Amino acid sequence: MPHRLLGNNRDWAAAKKAADPGFFTRLAQQQSPRYMWIGCADSRVPANEITGLDPGEVFVHRNVANVVVHSDLNALSTIQFAVEHLKVEHIFVVGHYGCAGVRAAMRGVRVGLADNWLRHVHDVRLRHRKRLDHLPPEQQEDTLCEMNVIEQVGNVALSTVLQDAWARGQKVAVHGWVYGLRDGLLKDLDVTMDDSATVVQVFANAFKRYPRVADDAGGDPAEERFDTPDGGA
Ligand code: CO
Repeated sequence: MPHRLLGNNRDWAAAKKAADPGFFTRLAQQQSPRYMWIGCADSRVPANEITGLDPGEVFVHRNVANVVVHSDLNALSTIQFAVEHLKVEHIFVVGHYGCAGVRAAMRGVRVGLADNWLRHVHDVRLRHRKRLDHLPPEQQEDTLCEMNVIEQVGNVALSTVLQDAWARGQKVAVHGWVYGLRDGLLKDLDVTMDDSATVVQVFANAFKRYPRVADDAGGDPAEERFDTPDGGA
């Protein structure tokens, strides 16, 4: 008795071939996706399925809490391959509300080895704590999911891969999206970076949508990077 998944696979391959006899032959020759997806490993956020894309249409990298770390050779190699060889035109960093990794980072819950990985999300929380701490707990988590995406979009944009691509004049844009588990919908966070010059500007504006506590008129020294103090503005 074959495993259920192998049975599913045979059915799927047969249906695909029946609908389009050349499907696998074409794909076997080469992949030429226009999109790259950097998302959470969460089983509820499958890139192809929720965007209605077939095999061959989106190049995917997923990890816990969709984090892009400057020294993560796994992520960077994948991004480099996507940009330099596949010549993808759009990279989407996609977080999701209800992310257990973000929740653990928000609440300081110990989950195991992943604590060290989630430290990067915790750092995002610390950097923007004055925009987070005054919100109700439920809203803090949703907001940190969004902030984490924005920070990771910045990390992709600041990688040597994207900087070099833009210096060559290659057209490739990095976008930030969040997926809603409750409604199945993707939301565009409107933080698209498509050349070196846009990075600072997009970053500077991105966090202003999350107001700091009313009595805090000044900037927060921990909130460095490209975020500019917006007190009084
Ligand atoms: Co998640």
